Amino acid sequence: MFLSPAEAAEVRKRFGTPCYVYDRPSLEAAAGRATAFPHAFGVTVRYAMKANSCRAVLTLFRDLHLRVDASSDFEVERALRAGFQPERIALTSQAPSRRLRGFVEGGIRFTACSLLQLERFGEAFPGRDVTIRVNPGLGSGAVNRVNTGGPASSFGIWYEQLDEAMALAERHGVVIAGLHTHIGSGSDPTVWTRVARMALEIAERLPDVIVVSLGGGFKVARLPEEEGTDLAAVGSVVREEFLAFRERTGRMLDLEIEPGAYLVANAGAIVATCVDVVSTGREGYTFAKLDAGMTELLRPSLYGAQHPIDVVAGDGTPGASQRDRVPVVFVGPCCETGDVLTPAPGDPEGLSPRLVPRPEVGDLIVIGGAGAYAAAMAATGYNSYPAAAEVMRVAAGEFTLARRRQTLEQALSNEVEAE
Ligand code: LLP
Repeated sequence: MFLSPAEAAEVRKRFGTPCYVYDRPSLEAAAGRATAFPHAFGVTVRYAMKANSCRAVLTLFRDLHLRVDASSDFEVERALRAGFQPERIALTSQAPSRRLRGFVEGGIRFTACSLLQLERFGEAFPGRDVTIRVNPGLGSGAVNRVNTGGPASSFGIWYEQLDEAMALAERHGVVIAGLHTHIGSGSDPTVWTRVARMALEIAERLPDVIVVSLGGGFKVARLPEEEGTDLAAVGSVVREEFLAFRERTGRMLDLEIEPGAYLVANAGAIVATCVDVVSTGREGYTFAKLDAGMTELLRPSLYGAQHPIDVVAGDGTPGASQRDRVPVVFVGPCCETGDVLTPAPGDPEGLSPRLVPRPEVGDLIVIGGAGAYAAAMAATGYNSYPAAAEVMRVAAGEFTLARRRQTLEQALSNEVEAE
């Protein structure tokens, strides 16, 4: 993990816990690897901002010339406020946009994710170019809940309805110039490349398509024993497919990729404090209770996701590593049995104790892999815990505040007194 014990202590001293920390050098390195994605005729990297929409992260990626994919009208607004030019923002939303007309007139790119969305676009903008998201009939995700392809997923226009989509587009004189697929998060690289081929088969039936977005979903290794996606390897397979497509059709397609987790997951950590240690006896477990849990990181409770956890002595010295190692279940502060940070892999109901230096009250606990779908997807507000602070680690030992800790007043500010 990018934080040293002394840095974790420094973060707690300056910003309190729980606190998200994002590492700028890691973000820059990941962006560099993504922009080096092999391609035949050009590649565009669009950051899927749903993974982490913190302004400091957005402005960094903006300055690194990435484009952005927004998943709601509100994310479009956030991207604009972070200074992205409208032309660099695409809206790929599960729900039909309420601001379609204004956005598209303002230059935002639009991806129609259903026949209804395509119809509305056609009504508003006859004759214009559009991208359609297609569910290619196959998906892959770390767990079923993050698989967005195949018949059990509602995302995109079902591939067998392509004729309908084409007829609809023709009726409105709309040109399908872009094809988009995104098959899930934490995808198996083999399936991902297979779907790339399937996407090109679909593109073959859409003569005006000039850009193919293969979405995101690159598997990230959060734990040391996991294997992440080798973008260069996946990209070189895709590059061959694009070259073969040109041989077959004479068409040179631009490629887009839309990584979310890949760009941010391992560039984020949560610094928490161990606030209690309890045991349920010899047949039970040792639990370390933290001031961070599902209110900062929902992935373990929701998917049985695995995140690395380091126990650090409260004074920030490497002292904890000398303690005996014991199996520990890490839990959050909520009155909720499911507020568990170490569930069994893929099974949020199971417990999977971690072998760690025996935790003590006051220790610093660093939870890794928390740059993606952590702050962006936290159960903020449960038990009235306010949203944690976010901090950017600009360089070793150098931190700047990105978002202040929420106050209770802010959390309650929209409440109206009963008449
Ligand atoms: N593009 C589209 C259209 C998407 O829907 C997504 C993710 C991405 C790109 C980025 O996928 P990524 O590269 O981050 O895997 N909350 C889950 C992930 C759900 C992602 C939904 N869409 C998690 O914590 O793993």
